[in-house]
Amino acid sequence: MTIREAKIRIDALRKKIDEHNRRYYVESAPVISDFEFDLLMQELQGLERKFPELVNVASPTQRVGSDLSEGFAQVAHRYPMLSLGNTYSEGELREFDARIAKAFDEAYEYVCELKFDGASISLIYADGTLQRAVTRGDGVQGDDVIANVRTVRSIPLQLQGDNFPKEFEVRGEILMPHSSFEKLNREREKQDEVPFANPRNAASGTLKMLDSKEVAKRGLDNFIYYMPGYGLPFSSHYESLQAARAWGFKVSEHTQKCSDINAVITFIRRWDAARKSLPYDTDGVVVKVNSFAQQRALGFTAKTPRWAIAYKFKAEQALTKLLSVDYQVGRTGAITPVANLEPVKLAGTVVKRASLHNADQIALLDVRIGDMVYVEKGGEIIPKIVGVDASKRDETLQPLQYISVCPECSTPLVRLEGEAKHFCPNESGCPPQIVGRIIHFASRKAMNIEGLGDETVELLYKNGLIATVGDLYSLRKSQIARLERMGDKSAENILQGLENSKKVAFPRVLFALGIRYVGETTAKKLADAFGSLDALQNATPEQLLEVDEVGEQIAKSALAFFGEEKNQLLLNKLREVGLCFATDAQERISSELEGLTFVITGTLSRPREEWKQAIEQHGGKVASAISGSTSYLLAGEKAGSKIQKAEKLRVKVINEVQILELISKKNNV
Ligand code: IVH
Repeated sequence: MTIREAKIRIDALRKKIDEHNRRYYVESAPVISDFEFDLLMQELQGLERKFPELVNVASPTQRVGSDLSEGFAQVAHRYPMLSLGNTYSEGELREFDARIAKAFDEAYEYVCELKFDGASISLIYADGTLQRAVTRGDGVQGDDVIANVRTVRSIPLQLQGDNFPKEFEVRGEILMPHSSFEKLNREREKQDEVPFANPRNAASGTLKMLDSKEVAKRGLDNFIYYMPGYGLPFSSHYESLQAARAWGFKVSEHTQKCSDINAVITFIRRWDAARKSLPYDTDGVVVKVNSFAQQRALGFTAKTPRWAIAYKFKAEQALTKLLSVDYQVGRTGAITPVANLEPVKLAGTVVKRASLHNADQIALLDVRIGDMVYVEKGGEIIPKIVGVDASKRDETLQPLQYISVCPECSTPLVRLEGEAKHFCPNESGCPPQIVGRIIHFASRKAMNIEGLGDETVELLYKNGLIATVGDLYSLRKSQIARLERMGDKSAENILQGLENSKKVAFPRVLFALGIRYVGETTAKKLADAFGSLDALQNATPEQLLEVDEVGEQIAKSALAFFGEEKNQLLLNKLREVGLCFATDAQERISSELEGLTFVITGTLSRPREEWKQAIEQHGGKVASAISGSTSYLLAGEKAGSKIQKAEKLRVKVINEVQILELISKKNNV
């Protein structure tokens, strides 16, 4: 295939894939199977690999993201990103309408939209291609998070049709649907990472991540609700939204023109109830004057447009009786009080349990067993208790006494300075902590030991076969096979799973150890920085703190873990068993780049990820920012400010051909 033929096929494939993406993610109405879609994608990926010069950022293959981040550039908004005036009352809404009515002799109409609860984003397109995606920031300037936004599949990278302005901006909300949010939090809890409080925090936190590959996995979505700027080829907001939809943007179908304020109020009342069945959070309705000419006439105050207002829904609450409080012990020993409630219906589901967070929260609310309590769904998996109806309190109720010993092993609880939670310090003797650590070790993102699910770990522990993860590797087939629900086949399966886990790469082994605060990402960063467990164990606090994203808390926790004798014994045991305690030496092709640190910038002929891998395979390191210790800046086209920085620091700038020479021609990267 010649490059010209390839270009024709690549263009056709991109168009097709964009269209199917739109049908799937924007319209929720796919017309081909996932399998057929994957085939198109694979063909495109194959061609782009063969003809790297034809790769470009708007290609649908680029939606998977990359873990090589440059940080975010600060960008000034062409039109400031304002907020909206808001109200909780219909009365104030009528006052808003009276102000509008006073301004005009002529008729006017409103557009009502849902108020999506996420993070606002400004998208800039030039010639139909997404160029920038800027967060709200302080309203005047924000961060360009384009690498992350490219992974949001309902945002077009390339617009459809040809009647869009040459350069223009749209604004909308990036949000995390309930299904993605719940999945994300389940994973975070499993990995002992703090779950997000609600989908809004999850969406804005995700948008600011430095690893767009991770962003791609988090299932973000969006709605477009505004096209700022004058001189657009439309006379009304509603028209601009219809055009945006035709160009491929996701515009909510729950958008309605209303001829007067009564129609607006009807819309609001309908959605106050109906929003509960939407798959994402909304916190109100936005009411906008439709005509652009009238919008212009009304103008803006310093902070908000005069032509729009947000009506905010009240958070849903239910009143029910607090029956009792359970105390759960997590794998790190953290205690969480959970309320058992008289079942009550709230936001579409029946609630029986609610979080009480910690001892301070209980004291603050002065909640007592037998109280009538208000529960609210803040988007968390488990609802929370937000207040007590004191008027309904029976005088005989006693203040709640927080537990002082572990409910599982009776060890006195401790509360560390600066921590909101109580802990059971009996790490090696408290059953839920022991079992929790082993479950974590075996879990999919850690050692991924097939056959060793939560219940099996529980069973092995109860039968006295395991007390630490080290014991797993001395299990014998006969010991497992004679347990209830087990047999030869499942025993073999587990042993095979354990054997396979010896090939699991070092970063995951490190994560599997369950060092407090060392989640998946931190484990990877530590593994990359130190290369081996030996080096990590010998690291000084200063060296640990130098690692990206490692702060005092993580450094302290790692030092404490490696300092404990029982952990050292465990690590020795795991080393003898043959777990991978260093970055795989097999992957090394040469040591030509040993001791050299590279920073990569600009557009290169192949993805940065590949360059990073190549550099590492030849013994070099890749850093994200230039410093005095950078050896070379590998620069492609449109390299930007890093070049100046390199020159200032006397760091040599090289291109792709020069780095290949460094690696030496005989090593074919
Ligand atoms: S219009 C100049 N429409 O609410 C007016 N905003 O409190 C621009 N929001 O920052 C905003 N849904 O992030 C508009 N349908 C909608 C919206 C919406 C959510 C957010 C947006 C804005 C905030 C204002």
